[in-house]
Amino acid sequence: MSLIFKQLFENESCTYTYILAESETREAAIIDAVDIMMERDTALLKELNLDLKFIIETHIHADHITSACPLKKYYPKAKIVMGMENVDAESCSDIMVNEGHVLPIGNYEIKAIETPGHTLGCMSYLIDNKLFTGDSLFIRSTGRCDFQGGSAKTLYKSIHKLFKLPDSTEVYPAHDYNGFSVSTIGEEKKFNSMIQETFDQKTFIKNVNSLKLDPPKKIKASIPANQSCGLISAQILKSPYK
Ligand SMILES: [Fe+2]
Repeated sequence: MSLIFKQLFENESCTYTYILAESETREAAIIDAVDIMMERDTALLKELNLDLKFIIETHIHADHITSACPLKKYYPKAKIVMGMENVDAESCSDIMVNEGHVLPIGNYEIKAIETPGHTLGCMSYLIDNKLFTGDSLFIRSTGRCDFQGGSAKTLYKSIHKLFKLPDSTEVYPAHDYNGFSVSTIGEEKKFNSMIQETFDQKTFIKNVNSLKLDPPKKIKASIPANQSCGLISAQILKSPYK
């Protein structure tokens, strides 16, 4: 028995999608799937003969639309998994998880870890030594905290919780804008530009406040679409928000 692991990239929003599966049962999970890449993802799942059991969202994204609901057309038994705090997406989610919730794929377990701060409902997920950090912890950076209930103070605590994991834990973020694909907890504790093991909360809050980022290009379409797990297309939602 081994873990099948695929890291997939979407260029427009620089989003990573991950496929995890157990080699014997072929049970699989997909994390942060993107609408415009659904053909790629379903073709890969089919090629590898994987049976999608969980469609996991790390949070309600503001920069792209999830393919969670559309994926259920291909895998009707798959369950959409969302953090408990995402009350806006409760009606389209099958499983609302909180700290310690376990999602089994074959003999592997995906463990949910609450990491609010980038948004109120952000979750990270751990399988084996692989940690999927969503927009909480990036490689050498962190997520922003200026909308969707974001809070730098809260994100500081969440990241310090992740820093308690073994240094060898591999870090797989939801995005990378600089060409990186994987890091480790040990590396981020030492080299992250926003938050290191020794940085105090005040320094981190100052770093987050100095980010001065433009809103994500697709924010007006993405947030409502993702509150329906991608059921309502971006086209339909565009007009009322223009
Ligand atoms: Fe995000």
